[in-house]
Amino acid sequence: MVTAPANVRFAILASGRGSNAIALMEAFHNGLVPAQLALVVSNKDDALVLERATSRGHVAICIPNTGKTREAHEQEVLDVLLEHRVDHVLLAGYMRILSPYFLSRFHGKVLNIHPSLLPEFPGLHGASSQWKARRKVVGATVHYVDEGVDSGPVLLQGSLVARGDEQADELADRLLLEVEHVIYPRAVRLFLDRLYPHA
Ligand code: GRF
Repeated sequence: MVTAPANVRFAILASGRGSNAIALMEAFHNGLVPAQLALVVSNKDDALVLERATSRGHVAICIPNTGKTREAHEQEVLDVLLEHRVDHVLLAGYMRILSPYFLSRFHGKVLNIHPSLLPEFPGLHGASSQWKARRKVVGATVHYVDEGVDSGPVLLQGSLVARGDEQADELADRLLLEVEHVIYPRAVRLFLDRLYPHA
């Protein structure tokens, strides 16, 4: 059965401040992503993203992972996603590795954003690694999530030219504002257009 995009339901999983999550919320709101944002989930109870989501009228749920096995925590997350009839998952600074079991439940339906031009600089510190390597062109990648670390197929990449006199944090901030917040919503739109070409 083909579901019309307007009825497709997404969840955002995030662990921190949620600037990419906000860019996505705006895209759901303004129609760039013609689907529903069903909820935002964080594993950190003090994550700024929770408050930022609720203040924009979204359902935001904290499922803490501390003191739980990975399996137990993931099962709680899966239960909440199923309860909210979530079709697709967007990782936005979610600092947990998803298990093969979780991914089998959402096969090909989980996207992530990473601050480097993958396959270069996977893992932590993608933005500062690009700065340290003095790359003239730096970028970010939205990719499908598979069982490896930032290793799934690339959906969309964006880049900017480094100024050369920027500090690492200045470059990382510019990468967020000028690239990540722009490409993630567009990548989700592309993802939907590919999945539902005739809708
Ligand atoms: C971003 O740099 C994203 O690429 C990476 O984690 C960071 C999250 O930042 N996966 P924010 O919470 O979206 O501001």
